[in-house]
Amino acid sequence: MTAAAANGKAEPAPACALVIFGATGDLTRRLLVPALRNLRRDGLLAENFGLIGLASRDIGDEGFRKHLSDGMAQFKAGSGDADIDWFVQRAHYLSGRFEDPSIYKVLADKLREVEAAQHTAGNVLFYLATPPSEFAVIVAQLAKAGLTRETEGRWRRVIIEKPFGHDLASAIALNKKILMALDEGQIYRIDHYLGKETVQNIMVFRFANGFVEPLWNRDHIDNVRITVAETVGVEQRGRFYDKTGALRDMVPNHLFQLLTLIAMEPPSGFTADALRSEKSKVLDAVHRFDPEEARRNVVRGQYGAGIVDNKKIVPYREAPDVPATSMTETYVAMKLAIDNWRWAGVPFYLRTGKALAKRRSYITVQFKQAPLALFRDTPVERLPPNDLTLHIQPDEGVTLRFGVKIPGPAVRIEGVDLKFNYDDAFETTPSTGYETLIYDCMTGDPSLFQRADSIEAGWRVVQPILDAWREEGRTNLPIYPAGSSGPVEANQLLQRDGRRWRDIATDGLADGG
Ligand code: BG6
Repeated sequence: MTAAAANGKAEPAPACALVIFGATGDLTRRLLVPALRNLRRDGLLAENFGLIGLASRDIGDEGFRKHLSDGMAQFKAGSGDADIDWFVQRAHYLSGRFEDPSIYKVLADKLREVEAAQHTAGNVLFYLATPPSEFAVIVAQLAKAGLTRETEGRWRRVIIEKPFGHDLASAIALNKKILMALDEGQIYRIDHYLGKETVQNIMVFRFANGFVEPLWNRDHIDNVRITVAETVGVEQRGRFYDKTGALRDMVPNHLFQLLTLIAMEPPSGFTADALRSEKSKVLDAVHRFDPEEARRNVVRGQYGAGIVDNKKIVPYREAPDVPATSMTETYVAMKLAIDNWRWAGVPFYLRTGKALAKRRSYITVQFKQAPLALFRDTPVERLPPNDLTLHIQPDEGVTLRFGVKIPGPAVRIEGVDLKFNYDDAFETTPSTGYETLIYDCMTGDPSLFQRADSIEAGWRVVQPILDAWREEGRTNLPIYPAGSSGPVEANQLLQRDGRRWRDIATDGLADGG
């Protein structure tokens, strides 16, 4: 989130060339290209802009331009076609293997050419939309070719996609390699959840509303529950996903972003480092499991056959490129504790999974019960919980559940919802979430990107779980039906504490809560 955005106005980003490694891949076509188009639509891309795609396929400038225009036509940006031509005129393509030093010489020449033609002022944003195994290689080669050197006010920045490492040791090693070639200030480690409007709103909700802060602690909050439920299965990503699993794929990145935004202390200022330091502190304070605690507090599962959105889903083990005996989890739920003064004793429950009943992400903050004394002599058994739910996607809004008296002579209480729905209050334009992130990188604001220490802090929490699973030999893997809410063991994780999840299938913003 840029300072400009914080002030409510956004200027076009400075002149620059964007170099995409992995330019013919799915991420580029589905998300980056539509995001660029949306930036152009909103007047946030500089007129002086150049685009260079790099990938192994030999498709030439013309092939790349067609790839771009087809992609743009398929993923509409809500504007006419004129901007497609604008991009096509500025697009170039180079093919080669990323470990081959000669391609970086060709790239240097091309950058000079683009700078002369488009007046990009020598600023370059390199976007690594490649498999993670290529990250360190590309960064090292860019540095070797002198392409990362910042001179005469020209900036050179690198966006690195996730997953950043596959465990703690590999994340540390990757940070080390990248930091040999670049300054931390040039590195933008992306987590696309931070580009989502409703995720950014967590911070605004907490710190722009005076009534929130006094309640936001262990004295008033009973527990916090974070859900990221997906309906998609593994689709065509079996080769990547089977080595990764739900824990690595979603938790140290997306779910921990939500967790840290909910749990962090107010930053001392609206600067990238103040913000990122507070987020890292939360992860540093998360209790690390020993193997027994990991067994008790983490549940995993894998989807079997079932029906999602009226479509038959084959079991995970029958998906393309997934071994028939795979023990990879497609669902994970856990109970975490944050050992600091604000949160001591408040459980944080997290769950995420694929092939579930509904695509739905939300965070529920449950407040402590009223003392009940007032209703001691009434038939009121239990008061409805006071839940505050921040709906992240696809519904975007906030609900607050509280008890009201059902009209009539007896004191009977029911939970009702106070609702705010983004769509009702604002005119929103379609976006991918990558717009803000690309724009922020171009303007040099790393607030919404991950610093090396917070990436490592996230892996430090997850590593003991990976270790415990490795020791256990992955024997304990419940199968849940596709289209369900996940394994029953995840419900039991809360039931044993006298709590329950919201229902993924029925409990959305539009469903009345
Ligand atoms: C990606 C994961 O980072 O996030 C995917 O690799 C997952 O497995 C995706 O489906 C979820 O993103 P979103 O924006 O659809 O919630």
